[in-house]
This record gives sequence, structure tokens and C-alpha cells, in this order.
Amino acid sequence: MHDFKYKNNRMFCEGVDIADIAKKVSTPFYLYSYSTLLGHYQKLVSAFRLKRPLICYSMKANSNLALCRALVKKGCGLDIVSGGELYKALLAGCPPKKIVYASVGKTEEEIRQAVAKEILFFNVESASELELINKVAKDIGKNASVSLRINPDVEPKTHAYITTGKLTNKFGLDLDTARQILRHKDKFSHLKFKGLHIHIGSQIIDAKPYAQALKKILAFIDKLKKDGIGIECLNIGGGLGIIYNEERPQTAKEFASQVLPALRKTSLKIILEPGRFIVGNAGILVTKVLYLKKTPLKNFVIVDAGMNDLIRPSLYGAYHEILPLNRKPETGNRKPEKVDVVGPICESGDFFAKDRQLPKVKEGDLLAIMSAGAYGFSMASNYNCRLKAAEVMVKGNSFYMARKRDSYLDLVRKDMIPEFLK
Ligand code: LLP
Repeated sequence: MHDFKYKNNRMFCEGVDIADIAKKVSTPFYLYSYSTLLGHYQKLVSAFRLKRPLICYSMKANSNLALCRALVKKGCGLDIVSGGELYKALLAGCPPKKIVYASVGKTEEEIRQAVAKEILFFNVESASELELINKVAKDIGKNASVSLRINPDVEPKTHAYITTGKLTNKFGLDLDTARQILRHKDKFSHLKFKGLHIHIGSQIIDAKPYAQALKKILAFIDKLKKDGIGIECLNIGGGLGIIYNEERPQTAKEFASQVLPALRKTSLKIILEPGRFIVGNAGILVTKVLYLKKTPLKNFVIVDAGMNDLIRPSLYGAYHEILPLNRKPETGNRKPEKVDVVGPICESGDFFAKDRQLPKVKEGDLLAIMSAGAYGFSMASNYNCRLKAAEVMVKGNSFYMARKRDSYLDLVRKDMIPEFLK
């Protein structure tokens, strides 16, 4: 499942002893395994080989340039949600014809940039957005290709914050509105209506909600056919769950076996846009134990990473496994202890684990917070004026910097003191 494994009780990433990286880079840092990253991408490619979809890695999961470039070099496209991601996607070397752009709130400027670059599709989320893309395309004398994002109103059984395909969510268009738009598509002189898009949520364990959504969308496509409207392309989104704890998510093969039969009967060109599935288990956050502190009620393990580095436990109550880099510290007994692993930030919500049984750790020990490749660094901030962590990539027996740690100068580079305060 991933290339973070113990050898002689020391955790290695591929062929590199992670503690050696910590000595050189200092902590906290994110660590990515190149082979795990590409391995997960390949799993999807081979599970879907009969349909040969375009896989557009969802950059929001982790937009580090080295990661994106590694995937792009293997033929992967990118799913973006902002002008910033478009900028990084192009820097990573992604051909514009492999970029799809979703977001309920694209600004005119962002639309202009993407139309100018002639990206593959805008995944359009409202009628007003469609009008604006048409206007911008007309202004700059180009045509823009669009897919309508459909909200299929299915329950993906995941955390409420990352459920996106129910009609109470802000995403996509309901079927009736989409049909009305498509019936009158000729009024959009500079738009090419190429496809439909669904994305029902994230960290989805079970393939059934996908099958349900797919059934709805294929029935809709049939209905459109009767209206004389042809659809070339179907983007079935991302959202595949990964193992954080004891969940048993669908594998790429199981997922494909649920959705491929229905898709194979069609001539639709398929797009997938997974983020977490590709990068989630390809990354860990390495942190050092600063202090151990006992209170009458708790044992706190205070580490040097905080919720500014990895906010998922604080924001979603998400579980991340925590493992010592060295399974046998020289001193201390190894009996598990119930602890809270917390960061240095001035909030009680700053924790990585609560009441977790961990092998006994001591001050100075290094810990790996597992499955942190997706929505880890990409959701990091400088809260408490903390420096964003370094990012490192291992390939084989070598490691490479993928992003420098922030410096104090980075914290103040953009601040300005008005003249009257000088
Ligand atoms: N496509 C669209 C339109 C999306 O909104 C998303 C994720 C994806 C693809 C990729 O989903 P994935 O395959 O990674 O599940 N911060 C949250 C997850 C937010 C997901 C947002 N949309 C977390 O840490 O769990």
C-alpha cells in the first residue's frame, strides 16, 4: 500500500532511513515517496485500461510542483480549482488540453486566464458562470469548452464537510436546470458543450454511491439524446477513499468493476479526477517530540508540528496513524500508553490524536504522522507565525528537497507598514 516500512525497527521511505533525512532537514517536514505516488496512479490506469480514461490528478490534494510534475511526466492530467492552481499546473508542465477546471466561484480574471490557455474543460457549476465564460471567450475571440457539473443528489456516506453531491450542497446543477441549459445551448455563441461532470464527495469508502450517481447521469444522457443533444465526455470525479485506520475502502479494481460495465457500453470519453487516492498514502509528516507532560488527567506528547501543518484532525476529527521512526528507543519501556499528541499552537483544537494508545515515547523521539500526503501541506498555514514545513521527496536510495522550509523573512515579505506609522 505504501513504501514507508520498518527495516531493523527503523522506518525507511523506499531505500532511505527517514531519521537520516530528519538530521539534515530538521523537523517538522513532509516526506513523499515517489514510487508510492506513481504506484497509486498506475493502479488506476491499469484498473481502467479497458476504457483508457484521462486521469486528472486533483491538485488541491497536494499541489507541490515536484509531485505534480512526476505525475504529469507519466501522462497524467490535472484538475484545478483556481488561477493559482492553473499557474502551478502549467509550471509543472501539464499540457492545457489535460487540465479541467471546477469551482463554484471562478472569478472573471481566472476564467480569462484559463480561456486564453485553452484548457480542456471548465466544469461549470451555475448558469451565471456559463454566461460569464461565454462573455470572456467572446471578448478574447476564442471558444471555450465546457462540461456541466451535475449534482446527482446521492449520499456518499462521508464527513458532512466533504459531501458534495447532495442538493443541499452548493455544488453543481440539478438535472432540470442542466437540461434547460443544454436545450438552449446555442445561445452561448462561444461555448462548446462537451460533457458532464459529477463529483459526489471525498474519502468515499464504498463504490455504491458512485454506481448510483452513474446510473442517474447515464439515464440523463439518454434523455438528452432524445432531445437531440449529444454528450462526448463524462467526468466521474474523484473521491476514492484510502486507509487511514481500520476502514476498508474499495480498491481501484473494485471501483472499476462497479463503474466500468455501465461505461463500457457507451462511447463516452471518461475523465477521473482523484486526489487523495493518488497522494494520500504517498506522504507522511515527520515531527519531533518536544516535551512530555503529565497532568492529573492526561499524558500529553507535545510535538513540533501543529494544526497549521496538518489541520485534518482538528477540522474533521480525522484519524492519522502515528508511528515512531525508531521502534526501539534505547531507553524506557515500550508498554503502550494512552496519550494526547498535541502541537505547540495556542488552541486546544491543536491535536493529532486524543486518548491514543502509543508505544512509550521520550523527548527527542521522531514520529511519523501517516497518510498525510493529501490535504496536509495543501491546507497548511502560517498561523501563530509558524514556518510552513519543508517538503522532501524520496526516490529509491536518494532524497530531494521538494520545497524549502519557510524562513522568517517569508513571514513578513508582504507586510507593509504605512508611512504614518514609520
Ligand atoms: N474533484 C473535485 C471537483 C473536488 O472537489 C475534489 C475534492 C476532488 C476532485 C478530489 O477529491 P479526492 O479524490 O481527493 O477525494 N480537505 C478534505 C478533502 C476536501 C476535498 C475537496 N474536493 C480532507 O482533508 O479530507
